Amino acid sequence: MKKRLLVMIILCACVWVAYVALMAFDKYFPYGRMRETPAVRPYEKPLLVMEAGTVPVTDSEAGYQAMEGRELRSPVLPGDSKAIQRGQVVYATFCRQCHGREYDGNGTVGQSFTPLPADLRSSRVQGMLDGVLFQHISYGAGSGSRQPSLATTIRIDDRWNVIAYIKSIGIRE
Ligand code: HEC
Repeated sequence: MKKRLLVMIILCACVWVAYVALMAFDKYFPYGRMRETPAVRPYEKPLLVMEAGTVPVTDSEAGYQAMEGRELRSPVLPGDSKAIQRGQVVYATFCRQCHGREYDGNGTVGQSFTPLPADLRSSRVQGMLDGVLFQHISYGAGSGSRQPSLATTIRIDDRWNVIAYIKSIGIRE
């Protein structure tokens, strides 16, 4: 009886030593293991492994969002007519339904909002810094405001273009 117990203990010890040895070797196993293979479910694509330096460190949405509006500078030079022309197209596509043909906030869709869309030719809006406008158009104009966040709708360069366009129309006399 005692002998059998001893054999059992020795056997267990052998199995344990074999397991520990296998796990230690596993780290150096060159072909990978089943349990480390990424599981890809139906309709899922495996994530691309990006090279170092692929993540944008400048001009990124997260970077813009973290900055104060007054620190942000528009890359569009004042009076850049190409940017202004492009901004007009952007305005017609993404803003006019609310802010209206005359920029006065009388767009058809805008009438269901309280407060009504801002008059973009008011001295208040025209006096706002480009960077602040960028922040408000991209991420909303602060709590309680109904200006939609359009960051996922309008490309970054087109947001600067539409700002150049709005500034080009000037204050309503
Ligand atoms: C779905 C309707 C809607 C769309 C689309 C929209 N706006 Fe507005 N916008 C509003 C409303 C409503 C306000 C008034 C927000 C407030 O004062 O609470 C506003 C306010 C603003 C203001 C004043 C923000 C401030 O800080 O006081 C600016 C500037 C502006 N919009 C620009 C734009 C531009 C440029 C676009 C297109 C790129 C745009 N909006 C698209 C509804 C809209």
